[in-house]
Amino acid sequence: MNLLDGKHVSEELKKQIAIEAAEMLEKTGRKPHLVAVLVGNDGGSETYVASKMRNCEKVGFKSSLIRYDETVTEVELLNKIEELNQDKSIDGFIVQLPLPNHINPDKVTEAIDYKKDVDGFHPINLGRMQRNLPCFLPATPFGIMLMLEFYGIETAGKNCVVIGRSNIVGSPMSILMARNSNPGNATVTLTHSKTKNLTEITLKADIIIVAIGKKNYLTADMVKDGAVIIDVGMNRETSEKTKSGYKLFGDVDFENVAPKCSYITPVPGGVGLMTIVSLLKNTLSAAKKEFY
Ligand code: GUN
Repeated sequence: MNLLDGKHVSEELKKQIAIEAAEMLEKTGRKPHLVAVLVGNDGGSETYVASKMRNCEKVGFKSSLIRYDETVTEVELLNKIEELNQDKSIDGFIVQLPLPNHINPDKVTEAIDYKKDVDGFHPINLGRMQRNLPCFLPATPFGIMLMLEFYGIETAGKNCVVIGRSNIVGSPMSILMARNSNPGNATVTLTHSKTKNLTEITLKADIIIVAIGKKNYLTADMVKDGAVIIDVGMNRETSEKTKSGYKLFGDVDFENVAPKCSYITPVPGGVGLMTIVSLLKNTLSAAKKEFY
């Protein structure tokens, strides 16, 4: 069994990003600038946004955080998004999800200028992704592709099972893995809460990507020997506190699944770190006007 080490890969990729940011500063006198909008004080979102901001500083980007109380109205948020769309000093911005129930996340996502949509959630970016056109790719699926590429894991012609069809992970992941690209060219099955006989399906998988949000969901009896396992789970156990916050668990029963695998991502230290690198890559692309 080999660990897919998100810490190592993300540090390597961040070195390259930092070099390109320094070159940009030298040439143009400005740094790539990412803005994050955070509504309310969801514990997970606080941690992720803080990490995104910290990583921007590490690679030489400018970062700004705009905070709103959870009582902010949808109109106020949409007005701020329009302001950020127009502001030429900002290369890209994200609105951290989830949002409070009174705000429609689809409206928010579509209000963001697709040219600044470094999360890659806007329908124009998702449509261009599906067509294999240059665009911002959604950060978590993009990070998983970078990880597969880094380790040279063969995906062409492999059976890939994606568990979970969320807008931000499972659905785009299934498209990227099926696309005519490398990594990609896999035979993909996208499974979800209505899927029947999941174990029959996962037992045929060469690659399993689990993004269901349930601790220990993928168990050893569901995995064939030699499979590649990508665990997107970020389940916080509020009963177990560590010095850096609540203990994190993936969606995979790591202890029992790992011995059967050829490769597996740990949690923490796997996909989560890659998501942040993808956001940095997208922000650099936005600053360089690489796609639009
Ligand atoms: N919530 C969980 N993951 C993400 C992400 O990648 N971007 C945003 N904006 N919100 C999230």
